[in-house]
Amino acid sequence: MTLTLRRATVDDAAAYARILGDPAVYPNLMQVPYTNEDIWRSRLAERTAPGKNDLMLVAERVVHGQAEVVGSAGLHPSSDLPRLRHVAVIGISVAAEAQRQGVGKALMQAMCDYADRWMQVLRIELAVYSDNEAAIALYRKFGFEIESTQRGYALRDGAYVDSLTMARLHPNPPAAALPAAPALRAAPPSATVQRGTASGSWSVRGCEESDLDAVAALMIRRGVVEDLPLTPWAPAERVRELIGKPACSLVALTQGHVVGYASLAVQSVLRRRHAAGLTICVAPEWQGRGVGSALLAALIEWADGWAGLLRIEIDVPAQSAAAAKLLANFGFENEGTRRASLLQGGMFADTHSMARLRPRPGWSAVRPEA
Ligand SMILES: CC(C)(COP(=O)(O)OP(=O)(O)OC[C@H]1O[C@@H](n2cnc3c(N)ncnc32)[C@H](O)[C@@H]1OP(=O)(O)O)[C@@H](O)C(=O)NCCC(=O)NCCS
Repeated sequence: MTLTLRRATVDDAAAYARILGDPAVYPNLMQVPYTNEDIWRSRLAERTAPGKNDLMLVAERVVHGQAEVVGSAGLHPSSDLPRLRHVAVIGISVAAEAQRQGVGKALMQAMCDYADRWMQVLRIELAVYSDNEAAIALYRKFGFEIESTQRGYALRDGAYVDSLTMARLHPNPPAAALPAAPALRAAPPSATVQRGTASGSWSVRGCEESDLDAVAALMIRRGVVEDLPLTPWAPAERVRELIGKPACSLVALTQGHVVGYASLAVQSVLRRRHAAGLTICVAPEWQGRGVGSALLAALIEWADGWAGLLRIEIDVPAQSAAAAKLLANFGFENEGTRRASLLQGGMFADTHSMARLRPRPGWSAVRPEA
């Protein structure tokens, strides 16, 4: 069988709809039933648009004299944030009738080569359901290692199923012939901070539009920025863009000043709407004084009591012992370590993937019959 790999185009929409709409394939992915060509036409138009850095490949073979698409794979930048630009995410699917014939291997080889040799990518990561033995075996062949188990990660045919995160670091990262740079030392907190002059008390309230510039300024302060995927000196407008419109966001205030911020951004993908990403930060001079706990308690009460969320997730730099302790106090568990996943002060640092699952919610008592 001769297999040809080429970049996908919008005209492959029918093939994507056929392969990814197959009940033998889509339950293993994040897809849902009833896909169609139009849906794939618009997705492919978006992902293959000029200027996009995504690589969308299809595998074609000749069947009865006609070229037929039998598999597809995508390699997507995980973020355009400077500190996360070295991470890419991979996805793959092979038509049911073409599986176990080397198509997956060919697509994975092409994706890894592209990431290693052309894309400035150090880390490739993916999510795979923990019972998808075929895919896990394929990924292991290419050096992917299991880093975490994400419990109740997605809904699949009526049941919440666990997912593994697997990642592969570049086996031989290209390096310019320069001496290794020393790690940059974080500057001390700004000298203008007047410790102890505040009243010592704070209040927590919903974050308002008028707070956002102060929140953006807090997030890029030394002593805070290191643990977030942001950069010092980022313009407020860009930080505000990244803050986006979380489902719930809170500020901690003292004497009218924002000293803490926390938010939950609910995942928008249909099958992940039970999960939310947590962001939390406290001004350096207010750390260790209960502000983080107050913010987190309020967010968890919102998530459990009002939003029906099952899962809250956050990536914490491995060196942030205080953050890990705070999260552990609220039932977060370390699900695994993402190696070299965040550029931090000139070094590629590990992060811990921490998550908290809500205890099973109760049912309100059934009303007695009249
Ligand atoms: C996972 C998938 C992409 C593999 O593609 P494929 O073309 O069947 O894989 P290949 O024939 O190239 O096999 C490559 C390796 O994968 C592993 N593998 C593939 N199918 C397997 C199976 N049924 N059981 C165990 N290992 C399997 C083997 O290690 C194999 O190498 P080997 O043949 O030298 O033993 C394919 O099964 C698929 O599309 N499944 C549905 C969608 C999906 O699960 N995508 C991944 C989501 S994370």
